[in-house]
This record gives sequence, C-alpha cells and structure tokens, in this order.
Amino acid sequence: MPLSRRRFLGATLAAGAVVGLAATGCASGAPPVVRRPAQRPLAIPPLAPVRREAGHVVVDLTAAPGESAFLDGPTTPTWGYGGLAFGGPTIRARRGDEVTVRVTNRLPETTTTHWHGMTLPAAVDGGPHQPIAPGASWEASWRIDQPAATLWYHPHPHGATERHVHRGLAGLFLVDDDVPVDLPDRYGVDDVPVVLTDRSFAPDGSFDTAHRNAVGLLGDTVLVNGTVAPYLDVRTTRVRLRVLNASPARSYRVSAGDPVTLVGTDGGLLPSPRVVPDVLLTPGERAEIVVECAPGRRTVLRSLPDDLGAVNGIAAAAGGHDTLDLLELRPADRLESSPAVPAVLSREAPLAESAALRTRRFDLSGNRINGLAMDVRRVDEVLETGATEVWELTNRHTLPHNVHVHDARLQVLSPGERAWKDTVAVPPGRTVRVLVRVGPYADPEVPYMIHCHMLRHEDDGMMLQFLVLAPGQRPGTVTGHDHG
Ligand code: C2O
Ligand code: CU
Ligand code: CU
Repeated sequence: MPLSRRRFLGATLAAGAVVGLAATGCASGAPPVVRRPAQRPLAIPPLAPVRREAGHVVVDLTAAPGESAFLDGPTTPTWGYGGLAFGGPTIRARRGDEVTVRVTNRLPETTTTHWHGMTLPAAVDGGPHQPIAPGASWEASWRIDQPAATLWYHPHPHGATERHVHRGLAGLFLVDDDVPVDLPDRYGVDDVPVVLTDRSFAPDGSFDTAHRNAVGLLGDTVLVNGTVAPYLDVRTTRVRLRVLNASPARSYRVSAGDPVTLVGTDGGLLPSPRVVPDVLLTPGERAEIVVECAPGRRTVLRSLPDDLGAVNGIAAAAGGHDTLDLLELRPADRLESSPAVPAVLSREAPLAESAALRTRRFDLSGNRINGLAMDVRRVDEVLETGATEVWELTNRHTLPHNVHVHDARLQVLSPGERAWKDTVAVPPGRTVRVLVRVGPYADPEVPYMIHCHMLRHEDDGMMLQFLVLAPGQRPGTVTGHDHG
C-alpha cells in the first residue's frame, strides 16, 4: 500500500524532530559538561552608579562590545553593560523612587533593554517596540511601586534576543522595599548575586553558537556572574543568595547538599520562609535562598539532574541529566553570626481566585502559543488594568517550555503557600494554572509580551502581545517595532 501523503509528512516531521535534537553531534544532545575545580573568586557585579536629579534616581547604562578572559586561553569577544565586558552592573532602587535609566547603544546593531519583572508603563517596558539604534540613546522613566524583589534587565530585540543575551547582556535590578526585613543585606558580603548562565567556547576563545538543539543553545561551562569555577569567601553564618537563571535555554535544580531556606521568588519575598531540598529555575526565573554556613566547612552549590518532565532523549538535550558545580562557598574558620531568618517576610495579601474576572487559556505547542507566531502588529489579548484573572497554561509539546508575562505578577494556583512569580515552568503534557494580576498602566497602542523564556523559542515566535486598557478604553493601532 502506498504511503499516504499525510503519513509520509508525519514520518518526515518526526524524523526532522529527531535530527533536530541530534544536531549537537553528541549522544546526549547537550554538550558534555566540563568539570573544573573551584579556582577563581566569584566576581560581584558592581552597583550601578546612581545620581539623584530633581527627585529622580538617574542611572546611565551603556551597552558596548568588549573582550572577556573567562579561561586561561584566548579571550572572548563579548557584550556588556555599564563598562563591563560581560553582564551588567546591579541597578538598585527603592519602592517609591522615580527612576530614569538612560540606555546608550554602542553595539553594532539595534537592541532594546527590558526590565524583567517590573511593573511599569508599556512604552518604557523595553520590549521589541522600543528599539535603540546603534549610537542612539533611549530613556525609560517610571515610578517603582512594587515590593522588594530580585528583578533583572536584558535585551529584547525582535527575533534576536538569544544572540544579544548570549553575547553577555544581562544584569540584576534589585528593588528594595520601604518596609525593612531582617535578612542578610550587605551586597556582595552576605547578600550575594548569583547570575547563572552557560556557554561553550570555540578554539579561538569565542562563544560557540554552532551547537544548538531544539531546546536551544546550551553550554558545557557554567559562568556565575561571568566567573568560571568560582568560589565565595564567606564571613557570616548565613548567606543570602539571589540566584537568577539568565541562561538562554538551560534549567538548574539548585542544591546546597543540605536543605536551604527559600525566602523569595521572581516577584518578591514569600509570606514566610520555606525549607526546601533544592530549587528548580528555568530560564528567567529567580530565587532568593539563605544558606547556613559552618566555620571552615566548604559547601558546593550544585545543579542536580532534573528531567523537566520530558522523556529521556529530550531531557538530555535540555541538560536534564547534567550535574553542574555552580559555586563553592568557603566559610572562614570564625564566622560572624547572622540573625535568624524572620518568621514573617512579607505581609502582602495573596491573590484570591474568587477575585478572578475570567479565565484565559494559552496552549504551547511547537514554538507557538495558541497556534500563533509572534506578530509585532497583531494584538492577541486585551486585559484590563489591575484585573485578576486565571490563566491556564498547557504544554501540548514534547519540549519543556515556560511562560513569562510582562508587567504582571503571577501566583501559581497550587496547594500551599503562594509565591510571587513572573515566569513559570510548564512541563510537557502538563497544565499549570496561575492567577495573574495585571499592572495599573493603560496604553491603547503599545503592547506587552507573553512568551516562552527559552530564548530560541521566543525568537522563533513563541510570543504573543497584549494590551492593557482602562475600563471602557478602546484599543488603538499597534505599529511595528520600527515605531520609536
Ligand atoms: Cu525576560 Cu520578555 O523577558
Ligand atoms: Cu520580562
Ligand atoms: Cu519554550
């Protein structure tokens, strides 16, 4: 019996998917991890210099090319912010501050600067609709009005986010609350940024971008704040780590061996601390953990294997079989004692499902959402300012994905304590229900984004746009990304 056209196409697509995963040329689908003993002090990104001008906190940020020495061999051409060859300075501001960030683009191509996790007007969100041409500057001003959180900033140019982030552009944006919490807070001493990303190196020292699979671009070497094989000298009995997964595609199951105390997630502090064996971070997610340290006893922060809910071959391609040493903590022989972690961290009321006005469904399949590829001129959803909604995120695909929503703050609907999120993992075959709190800013012409934060998928079109409107307001015309 002749193969029907349909069956033939099906067979070809299946073969294509297998070839896609095998394209790295190694059996596991992810590059074999390179092991190195901890040997370099962890770099701490400097705090961005801040000027106070007429009631504003002003930060100047320039994106520019540089050269980085990650290993002992040849240097690597990289991109960085704020005078760093790779990464970016940590921007820090307080709730209530009027912030102005002036971004200057000294890169050879158009970029954007997005404030991931920030509640702010769409026109300053820094997504694909706010391009910054080479040589140009762009100014974003907004009032910070959200609880303390570990946020971050990175490029978001249409179709080129992976390339810009992979070159090195990413930095932390810490929001401090006006209500103090007694957690370790000496930046770089007992309150330490841990920005995780992974790269492979070509023989000439440049980042290897040739070996990608359907999950994305995975590296064989972890960089923590840009440091390969780092250690951190610890002087206190407790250290708070602000862990950001800034990787293009790799997820990490972060473990310190013994349980750690989880105090915060993407969007802020938990109501109360939670002791957990480890924390899974898919790309874009953050966790604040407090690690107990004993005098002289070294602890290695590791990423443990996690199949991300995928079948074997795909889990391997996602790096899910890998064990990675992230950071060695080296406590001194005598430690200053840190205060106990407070029993109450945040009094912010959780979102109530009973307040949800409606339910929306987002199906992830292929690198599409609800069957659609990103179109900068199309509005996919219209939300109302300040609304609470239930979103059902379903992954109908074999690949792991996650969902990140701009401007909004999310809580996963599951038993137990609610954590503030802006990026949630959606494993293959699973539905994740989240409560979404829409931000307060309306704009009939400039949309926000919802997308998979695995950057290859996002660039491939796994992204939709939504407008936020005031009650009764009508949508205007959304123009393309050339709209300045
Ligand atoms: Cu961190 Cu739309 O991105
Ligand atoms: Cu974002
Ligand atoms: Cu994805």
